[in-house]
Amino acid sequence: MTTMDTPTTHNRPTSPTTGSSGATTAAAAPSAATDPSPTVATSTGDSGASPSASGVTPPSGALSGERSSSAPTRPESSQPTAPTLPESPLTIFDVSRAGRRGVRPPPAGVPEVDPHTALGRAARKEPAALPEIGELDAMRHYTRLSSLNFSIANAFYPLGSCTMKYNPLINEAAAALPGLGALHPMQTDDQCQGMLELFWRVEQWLSAVSGLPFVSLHPAAGAHGELTALMVMRKFLDEHGGRKKSVILIPDSAHGTNPASCTIAGFTTREVKSNERGRVDMDDLAAKLGDGQDIAGLMITNPSTLGIFERNIRRICELVHGAGGLVYMDGANMNAILGRARPGDFGVDVMHFNLHKTFSQPHGGGGPGAGPIAVTEALAPYLPVPKVERRELKAKDGQVVGHKYVTVSKAPKSIGRMRGFMGNAGVMVRSYTYMRANGPEGLRAISDAAVLNANYLRAGLEKTYRVFFPEPCLHEVVFTAKGMPNGIRALDVAKRLIDYKIHPPTVYFPLIVPEAMMVEPTETESRETLDRFIEVMQAIWREAESDPDMLRKAPHTRAIGRPDEVRAVKEPRVTV
Ligand SMILES: Cc1ncc(COP(=O)(O)O)c(C=O)c1O
Repeated sequence: MTTMDTPTTHNRPTSPTTGSSGATTAAAAPSAATDPSPTVATSTGDSGASPSASGVTPPSGALSGERSSSAPTRPESSQPTAPTLPESPLTIFDVSRAGRRGVRPPPAGVPEVDPHTALGRAARKEPAALPEIGELDAMRHYTRLSSLNFSIANAFYPLGSCTMKYNPLINEAAAALPGLGALHPMQTDDQCQGMLELFWRVEQWLSAVSGLPFVSLHPAAGAHGELTALMVMRKFLDEHGGRKKSVILIPDSAHGTNPASCTIAGFTTREVKSNERGRVDMDDLAAKLGDGQDIAGLMITNPSTLGIFERNIRRICELVHGAGGLVYMDGANMNAILGRARPGDFGVDVMHFNLHKTFSQPHGGGGPGAGPIAVTEALAPYLPVPKVERRELKAKDGQVVGHKYVTVSKAPKSIGRMRGFMGNAGVMVRSYTYMRANGPEGLRAISDAAVLNANYLRAGLEKTYRVFFPEPCLHEVVFTAKGMPNGIRALDVAKRLIDYKIHPPTVYFPLIVPEAMMVEPTETESRETLDRFIEVMQAIWREAESDPDMLRKAPHTRAIGRPDEVRAVKEPRVTV
């Protein structure tokens, strides 16, 4: 990576100890970790939400106008005397008043058209039921709603596997540069040399960190990268005597998108068991490979969603290759090994990145992401088109005088287009800014700090909560709530964390861990934030002992308590 662009040192991670270069041990653990059994919290009477014995108290949380399903959580004595506020409206329709409006546009300046004449039966019979509201009220309504949301900008967000890391603001400034942000994908190559070069450079960086020579920026998300890669694998196998190969092996710790992508790509899946250390059970792998006839490949997440590095990865790759299959690596967790290990070196044929995780593109809310794939030379001819190529410009005497970036739309073996154009351009700009701002050394420091922070939490909490695989972890650590006092479950802990203004970790995933709580602090959190998380989790344990019913009803401080999340997705109420 030393031949890459000159590094600068912005956005460096914050880690609990300075100058450390790898996973910490209990030596880095806060002193609170030495308390093996959290003390029982003193009850505060009728509020139901006890402040802990350690003094960790959930904030009252009632943002202006928030609906609260129970009393505020501060002890009675410290309650400020606040006037009772009217309930705030939940939807914009609740604020609507007939006849109100925000903007009055000027007359159109063109003759009026009768919609019934112009649209026939498609014309509306009645006006659309739109909210009617003044501009200022609309602004206040949405600003208030946005403040009810959790975000990385206002709270610790240790959502395991999702890597909710800080998205540096400089990325946004770069993405908004008119020469980048105002481009249209239909412009000619000559008009967007800068953007094409940026795409090419992102490919170079991804190739450098993966150890795989060719990259496609097409896929719009991790799962889309999986599908793209599986289609590339299918085409390669078909052309290399593997038409009958149809089975992809998948470890039981895999992300749900892996088997789903296989099914969509026309493969069938066969599960490989994990051993007691959370790694691939090599005997089971051998059994599932069988004679290898039907094996198209293996899809493995490394580091896994258990935050564990697969130490047998080389041997696993050899076995799959020996059966004539290809190895796909789900690289969603590359943020743990950047600059430390390269998948191409341990035998992987193809992998995807989640730019919206590892390379700091905003994530969540279904916003645009990118799941580029990197492949070996053998798979490169099958990558999607259009793609960018860098061509030398030569003088008459043959001397190279510069470079030009061109869009190549034809490649005889390509699987074709995976989307309209070459990739989500704004995502590439943000990720490239992050790569350049940190540089090769900075990227390695990011991984080191992500691993250090996760181990800091592990060491700080392992005497209270059981770590499912008790060994140093990588970027995330999985606790289990199984065996908590009074039958308290992972969901109760997650909901109670909200009262403490901490976003819950991922719960009930990975599936092989009962009552899983998967915590990923990421690299940018300060020691104080990590310490507070440890204290809060310990306080919740004490609450589980002293007041389990209060935990079962948490959260107590938010606009809504425990919605039926499945029903909200399956039967959304989108009308009034
Ligand atoms: C291990 C793993 N694989 C795949 C994905 C899918 O990525 P995306 O949500 O971008 O489709 C994720 C997402 O969190 C993941 O954690």
